[in-house]
Amino acid sequence: MKHLLKLKDLTKNEINEVLNLADQLKFERKNGIAHPLLAGKTLGMIFQKSSTRTRVSFETGMYQLGGSALFLSNRDLQIGRGEPVMDTARVLSRYLDGIMIRTFAQQEVEDLARYGSIPVINGLTDYCHPCQVLADLMTIRELKGGFEGLKLTFIGDGNNMANSLIAGGITMGMTVAVGCPESHQPDPDLMKWAAESGRFICCPDIYEAARDADVVYTDVWASMGQEQEAKERAAVFAGYCVDDRLMQVAKKDAMVQHCLPAHRGEEITAEVFESHADEIFEEAENRLHAQKAVMVKCMG
Ligand code: CP
Ligand code: NVA
Repeated sequence: MKHLLKLKDLTKNEINEVLNLADQLKFERKNGIAHPLLAGKTLGMIFQKSSTRTRVSFETGMYQLGGSALFLSNRDLQIGRGEPVMDTARVLSRYLDGIMIRTFAQQEVEDLARYGSIPVINGLTDYCHPCQVLADLMTIRELKGGFEGLKLTFIGDGNNMANSLIAGGITMGMTVAVGCPESHQPDPDLMKWAAESGRFICCPDIYEAARDADVVYTDVWASMGQEQEAKERAAVFAGYCVDDRLMQVAKKDAMVQHCLPAHRGEEITAEVFESHADEIFEEAENRLHAQKAVMVKCMG
């Protein structure tokens, strides 16, 4: 694996390899077995948006692998003052062994990989969030034992999370259903690709989307960068809440996943969130293990 730019670039086999390594690293970590697989290497982490999980899990993950990580905020980098990505990429390639970037445009991530000569890992764009979905897949496999025959339902905004869940879920053999309003659907090309599998369901009726689901997933109604639209979005998504009533149409043993941060009382009720908190925080923990596996695959 050279880069992780978006999940759709990876084959089922490559994803399985990442998940297997992530499971092994998790086991080693829990059992106090050191794994300095990236000793002496440095990861640069460019953040143009806020982060709790991504920043902390990459930074500590790199440390656990024997390397070091640099936090580079766009407020401090010259990129924030207009230095072109193509120059930044070529400079950073001469200092670092890998770059993780969280930004707005997917094109910026693709350009960094194109002009630089070191691995680039996408830590979230407006288009997708592949690291998150690798952790989600790891958690689903851990709790459900596999992917075949499972139905994964996403409720809410057809955003970066929805796009990556479609790509990852379909690739791994699940049925993926999205319950999103007509006005806020996931990426049309991705939906077209997913439909070819015969395992993709898109319907604005959330009860239909969640029927017999094994995994119910949701995310905020206003993503980073959309703060000004929050009020307008709250009206659009008012009927798109994961609550007890919705969970009743899913399978009895359905798990709930949320990438976090969560807004209780908006996309998910406090009751559903708390009754599935173990699954949601296992998912958050798995960010660490899955990303360590990605870094080893790309930078090892
Ligand atoms: N889920 C996620 O990416 O969290 P952060 O925004 O805190 O990194
Ligand atoms: N859709 C959310 C995900 C946060 C992890 C956002 O982009 O803000």
